[in-house]
Amino acid sequence: MSDTVRDVKALREHRSGPFKAGDLVQLTDTKGRHHTFPLQPGKQFHTHKGSFEHDALIGKPEGSVVRSTGGMDYLALRPLLSDYVLSMPRGAAVVYPKDAAQIVAMADIFPGARVLEAGVGSGALTCSLLRAVGESGAVHSYERREDFARIAERNVRNFFGAEHPAWTLTVGDLVSALRPDEVDRVVLDMLAPWECVDGVAKVLVPGGVLICYVATTTQLSRTVETIREHGRFAEPAAWESMVRTWHVEGLAVRPDHRMVGHTGFLVTARRIADGVDLPPRRRRPAKGADADDAWSPATTPADDDRDAQAAAREARLARRGDLP
Ligand SMILES: C[S@@+](CC[C@H](N)C(=O)[O-])C[C@H]1O[C@@H](n2cnc3c(N)ncnc32)[C@H](O)[C@@H]1O
Repeated sequence: MSDTVRDVKALREHRSGPFKAGDLVQLTDTKGRHHTFPLQPGKQFHTHKGSFEHDALIGKPEGSVVRSTGGMDYLALRPLLSDYVLSMPRGAAVVYPKDAAQIVAMADIFPGARVLEAGVGSGALTCSLLRAVGESGAVHSYERREDFARIAERNVRNFFGAEHPAWTLTVGDLVSALRPDEVDRVVLDMLAPWECVDGVAKVLVPGGVLICYVATTTQLSRTVETIREHGRFAEPAAWESMVRTWHVEGLAVRPDHRMVGHTGFLVTARRIADGVDLPPRRRRPAKGADADDAWSPATTPADDDRDAQAAAREARLARRGDLP
């Protein structure tokens, strides 16, 4: 049997079928709390509600229920990738599942694709990228912090249950360590993606997608402007996504009271062919969009105007009786 076929089988068996020694299990107690750990023959799981033997689960189908000596029932399932990334040990902050899903979809990460990723952080997004490219693809990840790289290596191996055949990890700064190999997609999740735009443009194939994930509006602006000015990318697109979970119980059907309000912004841009000039943009930039004259007299109201606006506002408030 070829290595690849054996690898594919091992990866699949780690994700489905009856529980085996070494599989990750996620227990959910009757209050909805999760406990995630690898199953080890001869070991016990302990909580304040007693214990049970790992062997009680090994060989059982997923979705089984085990009872601890203290009478607590636990539903046993393998963690989904979206569960796993939120429970695994972290070095750097992870990309949340909602954003990882957007990255895979909007950067069009396809089976067999060659993907360049930096930085790796805790390896959460790496798991999604490896899943999307599959065993026939390639994810080449760069992480400049050795300690984070080791955490990511462990997290990725624990999730897949083995070394993933499509993954290569380089410890080093992307700008200096970048290999010259062609890639189909580039995924940047780091503080200063604009520093890497020129480097990755050299290895990204024409038509390839660059996607950047940034946390703040200032990073977003600098990233977009750098891509726009670079000259080898088509017009970038930027967005954020918000997911609101719902409480659905009988007649009480409403959005949950709490939600994750902000994670980050995403930017994508397509690599254009070398030697080609981008057709000029048809739409003129909005007035004041140019950073140089963002605060020029043409784009900000003159003092006279501001005085007039303030007087009008006061008159409006006075009419409503809001002024003393
Ligand atoms: C927010 S974390 C990435 C989290 C990761 N995407 C995940 O889901 O777990 C950003 C990482 O980028 C790394 N980094 C920043 N700039 C880098 C560069 N130029 N080259 C390589 N790694 C870089 C940092 O060390 C950090 O670990």
